[in-house]
Amino acid sequence: MTEKKEKFYLTTPIYYTNGLPHIGHTYTTIVADVIRRYKRMRGYDVVMTTGTDEHGVNVERAAKKAGVAESEFVAKMADAWRALWDELGIPADEFVRTTDLKHVRTVQWLFRQCKENGYVYKGNYTGLYCIYDNAFVNEPKPGNLCPDCDRPLETVTEENYFFKLSAFQRPLLDFYRKNPDFIQPETRKNEIVSFVEGGLKDLSITRTTIRWGIPVPGEEPHVFYVWFDALTAYLSAVGGPEYEKRGYWPADLHLVGKDIIRFHTVYWPAFLMAAMLPVPKQVWAHGWFLMDAAKMSKSKGNVVLPRPIVNMLGMDALRYFLLREVVFGQDGNFSYDALVTRYNSDLANGLGNLASRTAALIEKNFDGKIPKPGARQPQDEALAKEAQAAIGEVLENYDKLSFARALETIWSVIGAADKYLTSEQPWALGNSEDEQARKGTILWTTAELLRIVTALAYPVLPDSASKVWLLLGQAVGVGKCELDGLRWGQLAPGTALSKAQTLFPRVEKTEAIERIEAMANEELNPTPAVPAPAATPASAGGAAAAAVPAASEKIGIEDFAKVEMRVGQIKTAERIVGADKLLKLTVDIGTEIRQICAGIAQYYTPESLIGRKVAVVVNLAPRKLRGVESNGMIVAASVGPEGRPVLAGFHEEVEVGARLK
Ligand code: MSP
Repeated sequence: MTEKKEKFYLTTPIYYTNGLPHIGHTYTTIVADVIRRYKRMRGYDVVMTTGTDEHGVNVERAAKKAGVAESEFVAKMADAWRALWDELGIPADEFVRTTDLKHVRTVQWLFRQCKENGYVYKGNYTGLYCIYDNAFVNEPKPGNLCPDCDRPLETVTEENYFFKLSAFQRPLLDFYRKNPDFIQPETRKNEIVSFVEGGLKDLSITRTTIRWGIPVPGEEPHVFYVWFDALTAYLSAVGGPEYEKRGYWPADLHLVGKDIIRFHTVYWPAFLMAAMLPVPKQVWAHGWFLMDAAKMSKSKGNVVLPRPIVNMLGMDALRYFLLREVVFGQDGNFSYDALVTRYNSDLANGLGNLASRTAALIEKNFDGKIPKPGARQPQDEALAKEAQAAIGEVLENYDKLSFARALETIWSVIGAADKYLTSEQPWALGNSEDEQARKGTILWTTAELLRIVTALAYPVLPDSASKVWLLLGQAVGVGKCELDGLRWGQLAPGTALSKAQTLFPRVEKTEAIERIEAMANEELNPTPAVPAPAATPASAGGAAAAAVPAASEKIGIEDFAKVEMRVGQIKTAERIVGADKLLKLTVDIGTEIRQICAGIAQYYTPESLIGRKVAVVVNLAPRKLRGVESNGMIVAASVGPEGRPVLAGFHEEVEVGARLK
């Protein structure tokens, strides 16, 4: 008999398509994914929605600048957002675009409901409008500047439909009182309550000055105001007018940044009340990640991107850092230094080390099988107690979205296990029956602790927790483990460990930061592919496959002469953390030793290359590949549909440094 699961519906904001995701957006989506994984482990049937907010004058302008139709522009952008979430392992269950037909219908339907219930009327509106934030501004900064973004406001008069927000002052205040948890954290709630107590003005919800929007049926050229449009996406994602059929509405949780809390806690519940629809249960406003205490922006050049960090340290490292470093709800500063420090200390030396140490000891002493625990000594009891107590504490903190606290608790248990191993010294015990039994108790205790912290850490560290779980020989995936049933003592002796993998290879801080920054730089300012006359760089890096020029593209000998190729001999070769396809080589080219990266890691082992003579393009401008400097290019043929690189070489003795002509 399958038990019907309780539903849990949560959302991230839907992101504007006139820009691309940075760490701030990634933060919200990661948090949503953590909650989703956690709730699933608590037995809920969870749906998480994210998506793209595609209408408005900013998109109109951006599309014009790009010389394409708005629809084409937003389709590309929506693809890019969706692809990033997929790549990072945080895909939406429902990805909603505000240009989706189902969304358009939902917005029009919601408007009709509000209108039929008498909360919508037509009028004229003149106001100062910020075209960047898509909002009329009531209290401009001196010089008519936008209080949010400091940019000049425009005076706009137009015929609008108005929403009677003023009628919802009482109902909203009553609602906040009856639902004290609706606005989180508490400090934000006070802010909103005083705003509503100060009186609410009616709100214009359609525009005639904008073309790129959802049309108000029968009222063209009216289109919906972006926030009436955008907020409704949460409902369109789970059935729109037919929301009852799917059963996920009202939302349990809207995660938002602090800048958009008013839209979510004042306008949105009012729209829903006007349409007589259920109101979401909770809106949680988190703080901002700042870079050197300033808001990130492309123009300031201080945007932090997720991909370079993930390439270098892995997605789990980014997830862990964002959730551990800053109390959820508060602002925090982002720094690469702090990121790498936490990575090395908490992940590599903490969880990673405990897992590999435990596995190695069990491997050596018990043939890779979980030993049987014998009589327990007080220190074993103490550790068991600490781990058992952590379960309750961690769940409680996850429930409150106190991620930093939850992780702190988990890591203090990991720390206790390290100390325990260091003081019990199982490696110093001999092979007598007693000593072997004691070893068994110590290692069973450590492995059981590892199992518990792994299950608890899974929502934040899904990749590495899955690896540790597998290492411990657990059959069912850790994400399927039911947290409600998690208890000390469930680890079965005799379970065979699987092969240990390095979870978090330690990195050298300066080098790691340099590489992350270089990769970010590449992503933000992509270098246009340099047309190489005789060789085209293989996609993955500096191994060149001979290009076949089209017949019409014949070049003269003087062009060919521009390419200086020499015989080089590979001196060293190593893999690069965070770049699966690249090898870092040092190559003797006769006059000097060069560092060159080659995209051949999937086809050549580093050892097989040492001493090998290769053809090197030596006068290419140096560039960075995955953040590593590459000064030259190794020539290779590109074979088969996959473009497998085969290094060009020599069948006779050649001198290092000889020129190829
Ligand atoms: N499209 C609207 C939301 C409509 S929801 C019905 C929007 N989009 S946004 O792309 O500008 O921002 C989306 C979210 O990203 C907001 O919650 C915002 O607070 C968050 N962040 C943007 N930069 C941020 C940081 N630097 N740090 C943390 N979050 C920040 O607003």
